[in-house]
Amino acid sequence: MVTTPVEQEARMKIGILGAGMIGGTVGRLWAQAGHDVTFGVRHPERLRPMLAELGGKAGASPAVDAVAGADVVLAAIPFRAWPDVAAEIEAALGDKVLLDATVPDPPRDGAFGDAALARKDGVAFAVAPLLPRAKLVRAFSTVMWTTLRSQAHRAGDRIGIPLAGDDEEAVALAARLVVDAGFDPVVAGRLALARRFDPGTAVFDSGMSGPEVRAALGIA
Ligand SMILES: NC(=O)c1ccc[n+]([C@@H]2O[C@H](COP(=O)([O-])OP(=O)(O)OC[C@H]3O[C@@H](n4cnc5c(N)ncnc54)[C@H](OP(=O)(O)O)[C@@H]3O)[C@@H](O)[C@H]2O)c1
Repeated sequence: MVTTPVEQEARMKIGILGAGMIGGTVGRLWAQAGHDVTFGVRHPERLRPMLAELGGKAGASPAVDAVAGADVVLAAIPFRAWPDVAAEIEAALGDKVLLDATVPDPPRDGAFGDAALARKDGVAFAVAPLLPRAKLVRAFSTVMWTTLRSQAHRAGDRIGIPLAGDDEEAVALAARLVVDAGFDPVVAGRLALARRFDPGTAVFDSGMSGPEVRAALGIA
């Protein structure tokens, strides 16, 4: 794996909600790239071993503090936690960029998850109304954490990470962060197009490379 550290002026303060399989994996990749990562979790003290392993390149705090101090936030929490977490972070998040990796997983995510999966416009629109000021970008929602962990920065065609959001600058920022994590960003377009890589689509959980994701989504 070859990691090229980001330039000093490109370093970002990234708050990550959740430090599990996805949050922990992507956060580690960003910290290794030189970004300033803070995990927002319910029990920051439990992350001590992981932070020690990262050699001081990341920190942990309650979610609201991680969000308040961040330029950009990645959500990597269980889908069912959204109503509570959104209420907790809304003021601190304001209109910041929110990358959303969360996916409903029945039956784990209960009625909130089931309702999201039943939507015709895509699961993004179950989350968006909870945080109406945030610049929401669907990101890191399609690839298994084990693939993210083992395939980051690989040689040849990199793993494709589809992105969708209504704010172009937010999507461009997400794309830069996908590159910094070691993957190939594939911009699908506006948030409404995120449904094209929701659960049940060809792209979801496929491990496709960037060119394969572009072909599947019909992106030149
Ligand atoms: N695993 C994958 O390969 C994969 C791939 C794509 C997308 N996703 C999606 O990404 C999200 C995270 O998945 P994951 O596999 O990383 O889950 P995970 O390993 O179970 O980690 C979830 C994280 O969220 C925190 N959390 C749990 N309940 C919470 C609550 N009620 N409020 C706030 N924080 C809470 C957990 O911390 P504590 O419980 O310790 O507080 C933990 O740090 C899910 O929506 C999942 O569908 C997962």
